[in-house]
Amino acid sequence: MDKVAKLEIDGKVHELPIVVGSEGERGIDISALRQATGCITLDDGYGNTGSCQSNITFIDGEKGILRYRGIPIEVLAEKSFFIETAYLLIYGYLPTHKELRRFSELLTQNEMLHEDLKFHFEGFPAHAHPMAILSSMINATSCFVPGVLDAYDPTVFESQAARLLAKVRTIAAFAYRKSRGLPIMYPKPVYKYTANFLHMMFSEPYQDYDLNPEVVKALDLIFVLHADHEQNCSTATVRMIASSQANIFACAAGGVCALWGPLHGGANQAVIEMLEQIHRDGDDGSKFIAAAKDKKSGKRLMGFGHRVYKNYDPRAKIIKAQCDKVLGLLKISDPLLDIAKRLEAAALHDSYFVERKLYPNVDFYSGIIMRAIGIPLEMFTVMFAIGRMPGWIANYKEVMDATNGRISRPRQIYTGPTEQPYVSIDKRGKK
Ligand code: ACO
Repeated sequence: MDKVAKLEIDGKVHELPIVVGSEGERGIDISALRQATGCITLDDGYGNTGSCQSNITFIDGEKGILRYRGIPIEVLAEKSFFIETAYLLIYGYLPTHKELRRFSELLTQNEMLHEDLKFHFEGFPAHAHPMAILSSMINATSCFVPGVLDAYDPTVFESQAARLLAKVRTIAAFAYRKSRGLPIMYPKPVYKYTANFLHMMFSEPYQDYDLNPEVVKALDLIFVLHADHEQNCSTATVRMIASSQANIFACAAGGVCALWGPLHGGANQAVIEMLEQIHRDGDDGSKFIAAAKDKKSGKRLMGFGHRVYKNYDPRAKIIKAQCDKVLGLLKISDPLLDIAKRLEAAALHDSYFVERKLYPNVDFYSGIIMRAIGIPLEMFTVMFAIGRMPGWIANYKEVMDATNGRISRPRQIYTGPTEQPYVSIDKRGKK
C-alpha cells in the first residue's frame, strides 16, 4: 500500500507521508502541510483528525471493538476489576501480585483528604451539581499536594496518580453527603476501592452500609467499562491541557468539566430523565422516537449514537446483560428498563436510526443499573468520571513522557471582518 498521499494545490503536487497504526489504520501526516502550502485543514468536530499517536486504547467503531492495551473489553469485564484495569491502562501491562499489592497500598495511603478541604465543601450551596464540586475539589486538592506545581517528574508520577485516583472517589462521596446534608463518612482502609466508595456514600456514623457483593461487583464493572475510550471529548481535553505542561490535577479537573455535558458523560443522567419523562407521559416510546427524528424538536434519543461506533457499542452490550442480572438479583422491577428495551427495539428497526447507524451507547443502560444500586441521578456522571480517571491519567502520562511533545494549538479559518478603523464613541451611528 502507498506510504504517501498526493495533494495538489495550485497546480503543485505535495507528497504527504501516511502513518500506519498497529491495527492497520492509516493517517495522512499533515504536520508540514502549512509550511509547504500555506494551507491548513478544516475539520469541524475533529471527525477526521488524529490528534496524536497513542498506544493505550484501540477502537474499531465499524466492528464494535474496544481494547485497553490490546485486551478486549469483554475479557476485562469478565476477568478483571477496576484497580487492575487502571494499572493496565496507566502502566501498559497487567500487574503482578506484588505490583498490584503495592498499587493498592498506595491508593489506601492516599484515600483521605486533607482535613482543611472540608471547609471548601462547606462553601458550596446544597443544590450544587456534584460535577461542579468534583471539578473544583480536584483542583483544590492540588493545593495540598507538595511539589505538584513543579515540572513533571516521572519518579513522582506514581504517587501523584495514586493520589488522584484514590481521592477522586473520596471527593465524590463527600460531595454527595454534603448535597444531602449528611455527615461525611471517612474511608475505611480495610475495604477495596469500589466497596470503600459505597461505604463513604451510604454508611452512617451509627451503622455501616451493608455491602452486597453483587452491588459492589456491578459498580466495579461500570468503572471498568468507562475506564478509557481513546480520544473522546474529555480525554482530548485532558491531553490538550497536559500539552501546556499543567499538573495532573488541573488536567483531570478540566476532563471532568468536558465530561459533564449531556452530549458526553452527562448523557447517562439525560437518559434516565428521558425515560422518566416517557414513563410520566404514558408514552409507549413512539412519540419520543418521532420527536427525536424531528430536528426542530430539539430532542435526541439520549444514549443512542456515537461519533466512533457505527455498530453496537460493545460496552452497551455488556451493560445491558448486566442490567438484567443485577435487577434480577436485587429483585427489582424497573419500568424504565422495559421502556429502554422498547425504545431500543423500535429504534433498531427504524430507518432513521438504521441509515445513520445509531445504536445504543454505554450510557443507554448504565443509569438503570446505577438506579438499582441506589446511586442518585445527579451522581451518575460523577460515576463516569471516577471510572474514566485511569484513562485520563494514562493519557496524561503519555503526553508528559513524549520526548517530542508540542503544545496543542489548533489553527482556524478566520471569517470575521477584515481590518477596519476604530471609530470614536461620539461618531458611532445607532445600530
Ligand atoms: N437521536 C436522534 N438523532 C441523532 C442522534 C440521537 N441520539 N444522534 C445522532 N443523530 C443524528 C443527527 O441529528 C445527524 O442527523 P443528520 O445526518 O440528519 O443531520 C446524524 O444522526 C449524525 O449525528 P451527529 O450529531 O453528526 O453525530 P456526532 O458524531 O457529531 O455525535 C453524539 C455523536 C454526540 C454521541 C450523538 O449521537 C448524540 O447526540 N447522541 C445522544 C447523546 C449521547 O448519548 N451521548 C453520549 C455519547 S457516548 C459518550 O460520550 C460516553
